[in-house]
Amino acid sequence: MPTNVRFRSLVPADASPRGEPMVNLFFDGRGLQAPAGCSVAAALLANGVSTFRTTPVSGAPRAPYCMMGACFDCLVEIDGQPNRQSCLVAVAEGMQVKTQAGLRSFNGADAVIAEEAAHVE
Ligand code: FES
Repeated sequence: MPTNVRFRSLVPADASPRGEPMVNLFFDGRGLQAPAGCSVAAALLANGVSTFRTTPVSGAPRAPYCMMGACFDCLVEIDGQPNRQSCLVAVAEGMQVKTQAGLRSFNGADAVIAEEAAHVE
């Protein structure tokens, strides 16, 4: 299923609807602006981003669906940390957001696997 942008912001992406200060952030190195306090997902959608992540198995593109933390289709890397639900994170000045391609792990994964293996006989 294509993730063409069907999201239409009621205000231009570079305008603040209620006079909030604008925040500068980056998506895959591209500079964007969004009103302070809005979610990363809303900021990316308002700036025309249509693919937030790709699936681990088929590489299919995904974009936010629920906008409330339930579907996990909005996963991105934020400031070097993968698996962040962009619909639940507020934009911040200078934030670096990247597309999440496929499966990601966390730094403690190897330790957890080793510990679990030690308990298996
Ligand atoms: S859009 Fe569903 S969890 Fe973020």
